[in-house]
This record gives sequence, C-alpha cells and structure tokens, in this order.
Amino acid sequence: MAGFVGEAVLSGFIQKLVDMVASPELWKYAREEQVDSELNEWKKILMKIYAVLHDAEEKQMTNPLVKMWLDDLRDLAYDVEDILDEFATQALRRNLIVAQPQPPTGTVRSIFSSLSTSLTLSAAWSNLSMGSKIEEITARLQDISAQKKHLDLRDVSAGWSGRKRLRKLPSTSLVLESRIYGRETEKAAILAMLLKDDPSDDEVCVIPIVGMGGIGKTTLAQLAFNDDKVKDHFDLRAWVCVSDDFDVLRVTKTILQSLSPHTRYANNLNLLQIELREKLYRKKFLLILDDVWNENFDEWDILCMPMRAGASGSKLIVTTRNKGVVSVTGTCSAYPLQELSYDDCLSLFTRQALGARDFDAYPHLKEVGEEIVRRCKGLPLAAKALGGMLRNQLNRRAWEDILTSKIWDFPEEKSRILPALKLSYHHLPSHLKRCFAYCSIFPKDYEFDKDELILLWMAEGFLQQTKGENQPEKLG
Ligand SMILES: Nc1ncnc2c1ncn2[C@@H]1O[C@H](COP(=O)(O)OP(=O)(O)OP(=O)(O)O)[C@@H](O)[C@H]1O
Ligand SMILES: [Mg+2]
Repeated sequence: MAGFVGEAVLSGFIQKLVDMVASPELWKYAREEQVDSELNEWKKILMKIYAVLHDAEEKQMTNPLVKMWLDDLRDLAYDVEDILDEFATQALRRNLIVAQPQPPTGTVRSIFSSLSTSLTLSAAWSNLSMGSKIEEITARLQDISAQKKHLDLRDVSAGWSGRKRLRKLPSTSLVLESRIYGRETEKAAILAMLLKDDPSDDEVCVIPIVGMGGIGKTTLAQLAFNDDKVKDHFDLRAWVCVSDDFDVLRVTKTILQSLSPHTRYANNLNLLQIELREKLYRKKFLLILDDVWNENFDEWDILCMPMRAGASGSKLIVTTRNKGVVSVTGTCSAYPLQELSYDDCLSLFTRQALGARDFDAYPHLKEVGEEIVRRCKGLPLAAKALGGMLRNQLNRRAWEDILTSKIWDFPEEKSRILPALKLSYHHLPSHLKRCFAYCSIFPKDYEFDKDELILLWMAEGFLQQTKGENQPEKLG
C-alpha cells in the first residue's frame, strides 16, 4: 500500500510544485534575483512531467524502467520543494526588510536596522550557495525530462487545466439511495439460522459469515439485523464493528454501549463483564461482530464469557475474511458467502453508472459495460466502485479505456488491492488522489469526523482555492 499511496502523493506533489513556482510572490523575488528564467524552465518541465504522470503510474506496474524513473522523480521533487521553500522564506524576509521605515541613528530601532543589514548580507551569502543549488536542480530536471522521452509515456491527462474542468455531478436520489441487489437466498438462509430455536443447546450459537473483502458480508449481516422478524424474535440486539483491533475490553464496552447508549462505563474488564452478564441474563440476544480478524482462542473465550448468561436461542454473527477465525469462533457451521450473480452485479453496476437497471437505454455502452461487469467477478464492491467511476459518463471511449487498462493484468497478490478498486482510484484527478490517499493515516474502519478531515486537508495545503471558488471548508 505504501508505494501505492506514494504515487498518489506524487502527482499531487508535482501539482503543488507547479503552483509554488507560479506563485506571484516567488515570481517577484525570482525576477529581482534574476533567476526567473530558471524558474520558468522548471515550471515548463514540471508541467510536461505532470502530463505523463498518469500514464507513468499505470506503466510502472509492468515496466521497471518507468518505476525507476518515478522513484528518481520523487527524490527530485522533494529537493525542488526544499529549495522553493527556501526561496519563499527569503522572499518573505526581503518583504519584511523593505517594509521597515529608515530609523534615526542611536535608537533601539537602529539596532534592528543594522540587524536587517546583516540579514541582507547573510541572504547574499546564502544566495551564493543557492545559485549552485538552482543550477543543480535545473540540470536534474532536464535530465529526468530527457529520460522521459525514452519511456514512451503518453500524455493522457486532460492538460494542466484539466483539474479545473471537473464536471459537477447532478445529485439524484437514485444514485444516492443505497440499493441492495439479490441476496434473497442468502438472507433467507441466515434468517433460518437466526430464528431457529433449539432449547437443548445451552451454548450461544455463533454463525460466521465468511468471504473475501467486498463480497458483501457486512451488507448481508445488516440485512439480517434489520429484518422485522429478527427484531421481533430477539429481546436485545447489538452491532459491533470489530475490525483489526480485537480488544476484548473495547468490544465488551461497545456491546454495553449499544445496549444502553447513555450509560458511562469504567475501563475495568471485570466490572464490564459483570455488567454485561447482568444485561444479557436470560435474555435472547443477537450480537453481530463485524469484521473479525482475531484467531486467538483465549481472547475469544474471554469475550464470550458473559454471553453464556443469555437465554437459549441467542445468536452471534461474526463476519470475517479469514477462515482461521471460523475454527476459533464457530459453533454453528460457517456460512461461506458466494459472489453476487452476474445479473445482480450488472444491475448494481448500471444503477451506479447510469441510474438505470440495465443498458436498454444505452445500447452503445452495452457490450463494453457487460465486459466490465464480467471483470468484477461478482464482487459488489468492484461493481460499485467502477460504476461510480463511470457515473454519467456516456462516452464509449471512456468505458473502453477502463476495459483496456493495464491495471487488470497486474497480479493482485503483489498489491493486495483488487484491480477494480485500483482502477477507480487511478482515475481520480490528482488533487483528489492526494485527499483520498491522505485518509490512509486512519486505521481501518475508523469512523472519522468529516469536518476534522477537512481541517487536516487544509493544514496539508490540499485545498488550494482558485479565484471565485468556495471557501476551503466548502471545497473540502
Ligand atoms: N447485494 C448488494 N447490492 C448492492 N450493493 C452491495 C451488495 N452487497 C454489497 N454491496 C456494496 O458493496 C460494498 C461492499 O460490501 P460489504 O461492505 O458488505 O463487503 P464486505 O464483505 O463486508 O467487505 P469487507 O471484508 O471489506 O468488510 C458496500 O458498499 C456495499 O454497499
Ligand atoms: Mg465488512
């Protein structure tokens, strides 16, 4: 994942450098220092590089030379940023000095004045080393630009102004509404297990729903959890998102909190377990532990201790990608979730992409669309992501571009990211890539606060305003 995020940051990074080089304050200073022609050259090279980055990011998966070129470019980009930062500092310092009125001699202010003279001297001194640094960067940029010619990289970006030409999507209730396709049989099977009462069974029945990432385990569990018959059948229901962090104390506390949200609980596992046992005592409960990775039997056993107090017929659903989890948790037989049928996957895809149930109104997209759906291999997450990416995109060429992307050929086990998801990421404009990639600082399933994230993006300088655009908060 690290390299993948690295790429994202790279195209955003180059974009930021071009913005920096073009900033009016820096430009004024560069003219005074007579390095404006150098900066102009930097800007031109960076923009040419930016234009092929999209293609390079894709080709690096199959061409090691392109990968090396991108690595060099990343190093160089950091050095360019350093020197531009240094430039900006000096420009600022010069502005401060110029803004100071000439003081009479023998005053405190004259001391400041002499200080500013020495600042100018030190600036001149550093200009000497700056000069050679600038030359070095120019040479490296020219070099990397020359190498680019041998790599046969295509300019596939929409040009520098492309990022401003983003079409605003119409928001309709159709695309916003979350729709579930198929899964009737699966839901019925889970309901049958949940609603079955076996008075002779004194253990809590654990039903693991197992399947690969994005296949729809959480969705199926949600369908079951919210079913009216299930609501009537159980006295208590609780949902816990467990994720990578199987912390018995946290999970126990979350169960308690979802049973009585307004109570404050101590951080003492023993007290929490006693409390939970009392809450569950002789009650028929349904507990869903979503996204479990833990394979440690002892931890699992401790977690389940209070649950033995529940009435018979209590059920626990565990969703997991990991078969190892099943052997630790499973008392009932596991429910292996299969792929979505082709037809349901198609409906999900077309709903996302076209707001329709099929291609009837879009015959020119039918053939290529169906092939894209086949490539999703019944994974709802893939169909949803690719459909979302092509939303309201009625140009057949754009659909064909997706189908012929090299990302499909990239071995999945190398990146551990589904090609379909990689593609949907790859096609984000770079200023969105960096915002998206930034979210990788959050732990999996972490529920982040929207406004907080926007502030973080702003602090990173990701939400640069252009004239006439909204407030950065709104933009975010
Ligand atoms: N039958 C379906 N119809 C429509 N959308 C679906 C369907 N199943 C899943 N999805 C959507 O696909 C995405 C992935 O589904 P879900 O989160 O349930 O997968 P998962 O198996 O729980 O994945 P993970 O292992 O990452 O937790 C979600 O956005 C979900 O809304
Ligand atoms: Mg899930």
